Amino acid sequence: MIIAPSLLSADFGKLAQEVKEIELAGADWLHLDIMDGHYVPNISYGPMVVGALRPHTELFFDVHLMIDNPDAFIREFKEAGADMITVHQESTRHLHRTIQSIRAMGIKAGVSLNPATSLSVLDYILTDIDMVLLMSVNPGFGGQSFIPETLTKIEKLKAMAEKINPDLLIQVDGGINKDNAKDVISAGADILVAGSAVFGAADRKKAIEDFRSVK
Ligand code: DX5
Ligand code: ZN
Repeated sequence: MIIAPSLLSADFGKLAQEVKEIELAGADWLHLDIMDGHYVPNISYGPMVVGALRPHTELFFDVHLMIDNPDAFIREFKEAGADMITVHQESTRHLHRTIQSIRAMGIKAGVSLNPATSLSVLDYILTDIDMVLLMSVNPGFGGQSFIPETLTKIEKLKAMAEKINPDLLIQVDGGINKDNAKDVISAGADILVAGSAVFGAADRKKAIEDFRSVK
């Protein structure tokens, strides 16, 4: 199980310290939510912040782009230190081309689907990607409630992946907490993204350990 705390819920006044803290607390990846105020109704931060954090941590940089025209920024995020870039299927006209340009940079590529988007959009791209990110809230904000229909979606994706891309990683993002983590994991998730459940916890190390001990 990979635990990927989302920086969106950190204290933006001391980001480097926050990242160091969750690294020491046992996080596996750092989930970086990039929002442009167009694709989603919120603005977060861009490649300059990602690049400024890169020297402060060894954590895997899992960059989740929630922006229009992601193709224009792939190189910048790779140069800022992204280890993987995930784009929304709904945000690019030529998904296959976008995935090719991410992989051409020598990093991993993921595709994200909004809650209302069908898994069928993955039929002809699943063998070309490393990860699918299923949104379990509508993208744009931390601290929202988990949409329960996501569980059957995870199960169906797992079944699809077993047939055509057994190495595919399944990431679930939005409203994950220690009460629903068990269901999300048993449905087939490999990576849990958690913003408020980790950064909002008084004891972040314990919050990460709680996720890891879910059986
Ligand atoms: C939402 C982001 C999530 C968010 C998760 O658009 O993609 O990564 O920060 O935050 P929580 O865990 O608080 O729902
Ligand atoms: Zn995210």
